[in-house]
Amino acid sequence: MLVKNRLLIPGPSQVPPEVNAAMTRPIIGHRSGDFSKFHEQVAQKLKKIFQTENEVVILTGSGSAAMEAAVSSVVSPGDAVLCIVTGKFGERFAELAKVYGADLTVMESEWGDTYDLGAVAKLMEEKAFKLVCATHNETSTGVTNDIKSLGELCTKHGALLLVDAVSSMGGMDIRTDEWKVDLMVSGSQKAFMLPPGLSFVSISPRALEVINQNNSTNYYLSLKKAKKSQEKWSTPYTPNVSLFYALDAACDMILGEGLETVFKRHNLLAKACREAVKALGLKLLPKTEEIASSTVTAFFGDVDTEAVRSLLKKKYGFSVAGGQDRLKGKIIRIGHMGYMDFGDLIAVIGALELSLQEAGYQVELGRGVAAALKVFAEGGMN
Ligand SMILES: Cc1ncc(COP(=O)(O)O)c(C=O)c1O
Repeated sequence: MLVKNRLLIPGPSQVPPEVNAAMTRPIIGHRSGDFSKFHEQVAQKLKKIFQTENEVVILTGSGSAAMEAAVSSVVSPGDAVLCIVTGKFGERFAELAKVYGADLTVMESEWGDTYDLGAVAKLMEEKAFKLVCATHNETSTGVTNDIKSLGELCTKHGALLLVDAVSSMGGMDIRTDEWKVDLMVSGSQKAFMLPPGLSFVSISPRALEVINQNNSTNYYLSLKKAKKSQEKWSTPYTPNVSLFYALDAACDMILGEGLETVFKRHNLLAKACREAVKALGLKLLPKTEEIASSTVTAFFGDVDTEAVRSLLKKKYGFSVAGGQDRLKGKIIRIGHMGYMDFGDLIAVIGALELSLQEAGYQVELGRGVAAALKVFAEGGMN
């Protein structure tokens, strides 16, 4: 029987045909006037999605490249850095800060929970940090962290705020300027609907001052160089021109649909997924639904989750993710970001029900789908 492959992991995500088509355009020289014009045009579109007046630098490299560029451009050995860790990707910031010699303080929460704002506030009263790092959307747990409150704290204490929005920017309402985020990082292969390979960093004037004064030992990942080149709509090294074309097409799709509508679609998909999971007697990993992500849903239950994932892939063609690190083999994560609609969500829930049943879990077929349909009927997809 024909089975289509459908990519519903929390990144890389599905790439729309329009975006794939854009990548077939002939390559142009990256030092040409045509490329400069194009670069400027794309960066202006990115700024709208980032909801910022700050410049957004485009790097050729995955999301971690942008994370490393930001940390290594700001941190010198001995600088006090606070990393707020709520999962695997929060840990990445802490690892990076350590590599670049920071005087590191880690505030870690249980995976599945958000951070403790009171505890962060207390810590920041006690110690002056040069940089605070946090993850907006913790892909490993399906938890979204409140960034606005961190922005207020960092402004009060004069710390720079660096935020990882790799798996949320382009799908969720992220107010870079309103939340006072100095360095906002994202990547191409999630809600931006592109293949992997580009990443983005918005840089506030305050952050730029620190970056320009810092004696960084980085080279390829220097934000100082990237920002300086971008002033002439150039890049320090050869950019991935094809992905720039793809980015332009993807930004047009996001802005064409309208940011509000894109956010609403992601919220609905997430709610439908959560309601379906609950209706099937499974449990959401996030402690409360208020902190549940709109781009990825993590859940578990009294069933072999790896067997369910394997059935989903082999019999029904759906790739969904398992847990990472300490959650390996314990949870399932469904990505519903970017090029994802009503049909994708209903189909994956249907396939999940069948896979659960085949893995020996008691399922009343149709319960999850019915719960998801109710969300769509009440919320409206348009
Ligand atoms: C929240 C978050 N941060 C950072 C990364 C790392 O990005 P990349 O794998 O593109 O280097 C990911 C990728 O899954 C992510 O989800």
